[in-house]
Amino acid sequence: MTPSIPATMNPTARRLRLAAGGLACMLAAAAVWAHGNMTPQAVDTSTLPQLGPEWRTENPYRQNAEAIRIGSAAYTQNCARCHGLEAVSGGMAPDLRKLDNDCAALTDAKKKDACAQEIDQYVLDTVRHGRARNGAVYMPPFEGVFSQEAIWAVKAYLETRREQTL
Ligand code: HEC
Repeated sequence: MTPSIPATMNPTARRLRLAAGGLACMLAAAAVWAHGNMTPQAVDTSTLPQLGPEWRTENPYRQNAEAIRIGSAAYTQNCARCHGLEAVSGGMAPDLRKLDNDCAALTDAKKKDACAQEIDQYVLDTVRHGRARNGAVYMPPFEGVFSQEAIWAVKAYLETRREQTL
């Protein structure tokens, strides 16, 4: 992104131009970051079966077309800037297509189900509470903005993006 600078330019002017180029790059990166709003955006799930106040232990919307549609839009708006468009990770955050790979490797149907349920819990917990370490926020919490319906809809969408089918 650094503009080409004539080699004949005097050293001070050259340094200034380079510094300006660097700054422009940083500003561009910040603009990309700011473009996706850091604040989690509410998701309308009124067209889905409502789940009540108890947190489910397993995704009730697996393969539900309406949940996948809503989850896809919610993912694009809230998750893609870190986890990549269509869950193809740009390297900034874990690749969510791989979440169920360990389960896919299991041959016993009962164990596979239990494994998928464990991943459901893991995703639910991560999305509700986000991730922070040593005071640094790696992922914002979505609790209070995303309903349980919204979280499971995103999970239903992510299940369509699995690297390996279960
Ligand atoms: C600001 C960037 C950011 C946003 C937005 C974000 N995440 Fe994350 N997410 C991360 C990072 C970074 C990690 C790894 C955290 C760590 O190292 O502890 C992570 C971890 C996860 C994990 C655990 C993955 C694993 O392999 O262990 C899941 C699941 C997840 N995110 C889902 C989501 C979903 C779903 C959304 C949208 C609702 C979302 N994230 C929004 C940055 C983000």
